[in-house]
Amino acid sequence: MKGVILAGGSGTRLAPLTKLMNKHLLPVGKYPMIYYAIRKLADAGIKEILLVIGKQSAGLYLEFLGSGHTFGVQIVYKIQDQPGGVAEALALASGFIHPNEDFVVLLGDNLFEDSLREYMEKFQFEAGEAMVLLKKVEDPERFGVPRLEDGRIVSIEEKPDQPASDYCVTGIYMYNAEVFEVIRKLLPSGRGELEITDVNNYYAARKTLQHSSLKGWWCDAGTFASLQEAGLRLVKEHFD
Ligand code: DAU
Repeated sequence: MKGVILAGGSGTRLAPLTKLMNKHLLPVGKYPMIYYAIRKLADAGIKEILLVIGKQSAGLYLEFLGSGHTFGVQIVYKIQDQPGGVAEALALASGFIHPNEDFVVLLGDNLFEDSLREYMEKFQFEAGEAMVLLKKVEDPERFGVPRLEDGRIVSIEEKPDQPASDYCVTGIYMYNAEVFEVIRKLLPSGRGELEITDVNNYYAARKTLQHSSLKGWWCDAGTFASLQEAGLRLVKEHFD
């Protein structure tokens, strides 16, 4: 499988730091945030990665990651000119993924403990159309929240006032190449973005949205509190 990392966006919740540099280059423990997503994909055996970045700090990504050879991977870069949404960023991967090919997508600000291997194997074994990974959280209203019925996700609501469950849909997704057709038909949401939740709801309505739950810790390092939490965890894991 190939991997796609989405690291565009404006990072407004981490301003003023993100006025200086892109969110995914901010330090988390010993490394810039982007390191961990690349590492997770490389450790799962992925060799080809498309990294979507914004215009901000583009040169710094090249300085740190280069071609990817130090990670044993090949990195292809794509620029998203404006932060038009997670699904808009994902659409930039359409030429990178061949027809009928499966791939993993990571949101660059999602940091987590689990290996991706088991989930990738499950997705490929079941020849699925789409799969999301869930995590039980204390503040589901900050995220996409699944409504579960008989063990199946029937719908997902983005940042609901009254969450239908205490699970969040993490920024770890698996799709096959047909997802690009789904994105092409999307309309911008109320906040003017192409939403990944609308993509996942398309599959939920078709009853083809698979899911698993992460076992280890997970965090979306998009706020100061979660960035600090992630730093403390990863300093312990990676300090040698
Ligand atoms: O972290 C999990 C959550 O991520 C999910 O529960 C939500 O359903 C999903 O919409 C997303 O919500 P966020 O509010 O955290 O999304 P955010 O705008 O922070 O962007 C998430 C990542 O996607 C971030 O690492 C940057 C990237 N991104 C975002 C936008 C808006 C892009 O590459 N391009 C974009 O235009």
